[in-house]
Amino acid sequence: MEGAALSRIGLAGLAVMGQNLALNIAEKGFPISVYNRTTSKVDETLDRAAPLDLPLTGHYSPRDFVLSIRPPRSIILLVKAGAPVDLTISALLPHLSPGDSIIDGGNEWYLNTERRLADAESRNLLYLGMGVSGGEDGARHGPSLMPGGHLAAYKNVEDVLATIAAQVDDGPCVTYIGEGGSGNFVKMVHNGIEYGDMQLISEAYDVLKHIGGFSNAELGEVFGEWNRGELESFLIEITADIFRVRDEEDEEEEGGELVDKILDKTGMKGTGKWTVQQAAELSVAAPTIAASLDCRYLSGLKEERVAAAEVLRGAGMESEEDLLGSLRRGGIDRKRLVDDVRQALYASKICSYAQGMNLLRAKSDEKGWGLNLGELARIWKGGCIIRAVFLDRIKRAYQRNPQLASLVVDPEFAREMVQRQAAWRRVVGLAIQAGISTPGMCASLAYFDTYRRARLPANLVQAQRDLFGAHTYERVDRPGSFHTEWTKLARQSKAGVAAFN
Ligand SMILES: *[C@@H]1O[C@H](CO)[C@@H](O)[C@H](O)[C@H]1NC(C)=O
Repeated sequence: MEGAALSRIGLAGLAVMGQNLALNIAEKGFPISVYNRTTSKVDETLDRAAPLDLPLTGHYSPRDFVLSIRPPRSIILLVKAGAPVDLTISALLPHLSPGDSIIDGGNEWYLNTERRLADAESRNLLYLGMGVSGGEDGARHGPSLMPGGHLAAYKNVEDVLATIAAQVDDGPCVTYIGEGGSGNFVKMVHNGIEYGDMQLISEAYDVLKHIGGFSNAELGEVFGEWNRGELESFLIEITADIFRVRDEEDEEEEGGELVDKILDKTGMKGTGKWTVQQAAELSVAAPTIAASLDCRYLSGLKEERVAAAEVLRGAGMESEEDLLGSLRRGGIDRKRLVDDVRQALYASKICSYAQGMNLLRAKSDEKGWGLNLGELARIWKGGCIIRAVFLDRIKRAYQRNPQLASLVVDPEFAREMVQRQAAWRRVVGLAIQAGISTPGMCASLAYFDTYRRARLPANLVQAQRDLFGAHTYERVDRPGSFHTEWTKLARQSKAGVAAFN
């Protein structure tokens, strides 16, 4: 490297995300060194950078790579979470100097980041676990970045991150999240919310398609229209696009759309499961996100579902066509259905975000991260998969009141929930009648109804617990904990029961 100018930053791990992020950094004018154990990946990246004349240099050994970066060095890793991260770190370690930073940009389990961060600290190195959202396109043109860990490591790259991130009206989509594994944790919950959004959208589709009888072309129009209103978001926009794509494999030229040819089995990589596990660990209700995860599990049982449809049909279950037929004879106002489903989707979405935000707050309290929920909503406004216009309203809700107990009791959102609940109940009721499952919308509605009711039937559950386990109960009219000999007292009042009968 004698004589060559040193790079501002380094990036190791040149799968598509890594390549794209490296090109993004170089394009914004930051000289970058790239490395991958598989040398063809380095050449591939150089080939992509060449026509753009970018300040990007490729390196074929960990030593050359590290020494090509200006100290204190900042090195971004974009390798598969888990063991590959440890392997890459071990390869780089011998060449790093005190004060250098490692920035893991993968979807890592937050505790792995906390372990590596402690290890880095013992070597006088700095560490960040940085959530990166936006997929391949986001990485290339502006992702949402969620860096957590050593503040000094963040300060070293703040200018780079602020420049490469997506830009929205109130700044770049990046902020220092907090200490430890907070960046990974926030990205994990972001993904959980993403699961919820996708599930709710698929339910809206199911209701419109089966109950409303909408064609793909019409659905493309409906989602396109929704994307010009309160639901405006990346996921709604791409959904509109999906309905417009024709099947090119269809040799018969029957004119079908590709969406109808896709096997109804959803894949997953684990961040949704982690979100639900963490919600359970922290005793935070996240039923919409859990419903979306359950739906992915059930979708995976394709063969069982096909067999179950058969068995239940044999047992006398009405066919979907019959169920829908009797419903449609009652008359479906398609215009009103579209409007109702839009409102049901919006209200369900607010409940889902409320769950995700409350999960983040509970973890922040446990770990002392001091998460700023309004700021998290802000950095999700651009670049990431859940980017949406309404995140600005969430930001403002938490700015108005950082201690807000739940999004649904923010005065603005509360008014919107109340305005939409009639439509929401109509959609869910119609779906239940038609046998079209809407687990996400139902979970959100049940969450709303449970949360807003001042009195729940939990008194009966407490009585049962006290009867069989002497777990005691509290009373509404005086302090203290009480235990009752329920069975004995019930026997004594048998006479009264007999008289009633
Ligand atoms: C390099 O590329 C290979 C194969 O694409 C990948 O498995 C590996 O994790 C990459 N990263 C590094 C840092 O070598």
